[in-house]
Amino acid sequence: VTEPDLGERHVVVTAGGTREPLDPVRFLGNRSSGKQGYALARTAAARGARVTLIAANTTLPDPAGVDVVRVGTAVQLREAVLKAAADADAVIMAAAVADFRPAVYASGKIKKKDGQDPEPIVLVRNPDILAEISADRARPGQVVVGFAAETDDVLVNGRAKLVRKGCDLLVVNEVGERKTFGAEENEAVVLGADGSETPVPYGPKEALAETVWDLVAPRLS
Ligand code: C5P
Repeated sequence: VTEPDLGERHVVVTAGGTREPLDPVRFLGNRSSGKQGYALARTAAARGARVTLIAANTTLPDPAGVDVVRVGTAVQLREAVLKAAADADAVIMAAAVADFRPAVYASGKIKKKDGQDPEPIVLVRNPDILAEISADRARPGQVVVGFAAETDDVLVNGRAKLVRKGCDLLVVNEVGERKTFGAEENEAVVLGADGSETPVPYGPKEALAETVWDLVAPRLS
């Protein structure tokens, strides 16, 4: 039986991965499936929360009883997060947000020209949404959680990222060739700004989601 320990709370969860268009048919994207974010949304709803799920390019069915907002790019995801976070008790940034986007968007399909080298793709920085909402909380006591995929020195890099982003909790995954992206299972360590370190053994994304809420719930004001 699930305790309704998130009852009366509004939580915002981002899921999926942003796509940054080059032209009407091409984009720069990533392999995030959105499964971890959807698991967070489902488990929060089961624990009594009002949930806004901001889904970037996912193909998963809408979880029952959850408000789903669909977005494409990092800039759109930022707009949706800022809007939903205004009255949120917690914001969980599980989406894989592109750090960069193409500097120019071609309104017509980019064509290859005979005998010519391709044009280089110039990138510009996207806003760091997690850092922004952590630094400028929409509500005092709002709990902000980030996710980080690291390939090496997972704990050292994770701890540095937690400080850099200014969030309360950072869920650090080790990623590699066969790990995490699109998988049903996940293994992680949840780092707390208070110095805490909670290992989550390899298992279903639902189990990691429950652990995240177990850590968020007592931090809610
Ligand atoms: O810096 P890095 O991309 O590793 O950080 C990952 C975390 O930061 C995730 O929680 C992701 O949702 C968030 N992020 C963000 N805005 C970006 C890049 C990442 O909010 N531009």
